[in-house]
Amino acid sequence: MHRSGAVMAWNVFKFCTALRGLGSIMILLVLGVVGVTYYAVVITNYWPALYEGGFDSFVALCVLALFHGLLGMLLWSYFSVVFTDPGSVPLSWRPAIDEERGESDPLSGSDYSGLQSDSTNPRVRYCRKCNQYKPPRCHHCSVCGRCILKMDHHCVWVVNCVGALNYKYFLLFLFYTFLETSIVTLSLLPHFIAFFSDGEIPGTPGTLATTFLAFVLNLAFALSVLGFLIMHISLVSANTTTIEVISCI
Ligand SMILES: *[C@@H]1O[C@H](CO)[C@@H](O)[C@H](O)[C@H]1NC(C)=O
Ligand SMILES: [Zn+2]
Ligand SMILES: [Zn+2]
Repeated sequence: MHRSGAVMAWNVFKFCTALRGLGSIMILLVLGVVGVTYYAVVITNYWPALYEGGFDSFVALCVLALFHGLLGMLLWSYFSVVFTDPGSVPLSWRPAIDEERGESDPLSGSDYSGLQSDSTNPRVRYCRKCNQYKPPRCHHCSVCGRCILKMDHHCVWVVNCVGALNYKYFLLFLFYTFLETSIVTLSLLPHFIAFFSDGEIPGTPGTLATTFLAFVLNLAFALSVLGFLIMHISLVSANTTTIEVISCI
């Protein structure tokens, strides 16, 4: 943008390129966990169980239907958070005080420092990196290199900021991830317990290792996502964001 100096723009670009590289790895990591889980639940355990007949087939059908339905919702909400712009400040945005006082453009004037300390308008904030005023609840993200409307936090798992426009998808992503990882944990629990019994376990070492890994990963995700979900539900009900809570401490 014309508002940034050339040197700074280059630095931000370099910084973001490095983190975007890491970012793509995070997306691959998420898809990798999904792949391992899919292999363990569908291909190794429940697709074969579908042909066993009787009650086993019924349980397998239920698990497979739930698993695929939730996986579709999870991936949809995940990529919605990844690809939805969290919201940037409109170029023409000015603090409401300008019109009220009939002042000249504060960006070109020398009186914006006076504006900042105005006791009647303590909310007027200015971002020196973007050279623009910040609306209330807007914060500058150093990873994205720009100001984000109602920024909550920069999430490395979705390689994006979570802000005004994608917060809904982020909540849905947490919700579906919790349901999906819980279903997977419960459906793999009998197979996990079988590891520690004396009886003979069917399956090759490879499929057993994948089942073991998928169980441990999904249990860990279910517990940590549950913590996040509870935290964000309480944030939403208190009309606040992660950044606002952290900056108040
Ligand atoms: C949430 O807080 C903002 C200011 O931080 C306020 O403008 C908005 O009206 C509040 N919303 C609700 C539903 O209370
Ligand atoms: Zn900024
Ligand atoms: Zn960000």
